[in-house]
Amino acid sequence: MTSTPTSTPLDQDALDAVLNKSLLTTQEWSVDDLDTLRALARTLAGLDGRGIRTPLCPNELAWAVFFDQSTRTKSAWAGAAARLGMQPVIVDGSSTQVSHGETAAETGAMLGMNAHAMGIRHDLILGEGNAFIRDIKRGIDEYLRATGNHRQVPIVNLQCDVDHPTQSMADLLWLEDNLGDLAGRKITVSWAYSPSYAKPLSVPQGLITLLTRFGAHVTLAHPSGYQLTEATMETAEGNASGGGSFRVVDDMDEAFADADVVYPKSWGAHDLMLARVGANAAGDKDELAAIEGRALERNALHTDWICDERRMSLTKDGSALYMHCLPADIGAEVSPGVMDLHKVNVAREANWKMYVVMALLAGAKVPDLAAALTSLEQEANR
Ligand code: CP
Repeated sequence: MTSTPTSTPLDQDALDAVLNKSLLTTQEWSVDDLDTLRALARTLAGLDGRGIRTPLCPNELAWAVFFDQSTRTKSAWAGAAARLGMQPVIVDGSSTQVSHGETAAETGAMLGMNAHAMGIRHDLILGEGNAFIRDIKRGIDEYLRATGNHRQVPIVNLQCDVDHPTQSMADLLWLEDNLGDLAGRKITVSWAYSPSYAKPLSVPQGLITLLTRFGAHVTLAHPSGYQLTEATMETAEGNASGGGSFRVVDDMDEAFADADVVYPKSWGAHDLMLARVGANAAGDKDELAAIEGRALERNALHTDWICDERRMSLTKDGSALYMHCLPADIGAEVSPGVMDLHKVNVAREANWKMYVVMALLAGAKVPDLAAALTSLEQEANR
């Protein structure tokens, strides 16, 4: 493992730029602000690792609403909020009144009227999740403005149809732990077979749009029919013009050849992800279940898209860094042997998400954060 790269120092001017900031997609943040976020995440991880408590937002309420299942991101949210002295509350989105016709903006106003931060996962339906999160934010902001309340309630996208920004930022931190500067590194984001469910497109979309901004040579690989959205492909191509590169192949071996990093995971076939939109709008649960069945049948045409020992041997020196956002379908997306070799690594990759969320919440909510962190450290050293 190489040493952690130098990151932007924690100066208050840089931190001021992320104060009151929500994270809806990484693309909406400047590289400077993403550098500040990672530097802050590293600082908070360092303090946590030394057992220094960071109750920077005491007695505040951190809501997270999940319209899909989650293990890691819920854990990251709760762990981050608790370490900041906040009270985390995690709500199942299906238990809100959204399914009874309450709009996202109304829900935002109602949840936001007494909250101090809000995370949202809404990732299953193309074209809906990111728009929903924006409406929630609008609802909160309008309520606070209308009532003359100056409280800031930053919104954190905990995965939508477009992006999974806390995941891709955690992945970037883990990549930097292992590779240092990403410039010139070959990173493969590949589709892999899954028999479990038709997964959202937002993890690969988040990766191709973020990593191309940091000079990486990104290869996207998938079978025909598994394309990502046009908008995110155009974004990745545009970002790559800054020094990295971006290419698409339909052959997993070709994508693995000489790669420094491989990130093989499943996502849903594009036409079936689109078919979900109409069935969901019609509230047709039978049709949604039928589409899910068709998606798994489609996946089953590509069971040979697995990250196994033979494919890993094609990578640079046969020892690329294996990454996965988890959960992985072991025996389908990845062979048991490859996963066994990398299981601690993928857990460490996952754990960066907690520090990313901590950095987002502390960065958005704490004025004079640089001084506050210095003071916590000095107190601990006394
Ligand atoms: N990778 C990830 O977001 O995991 P969860 O779905 O368990 O939150």
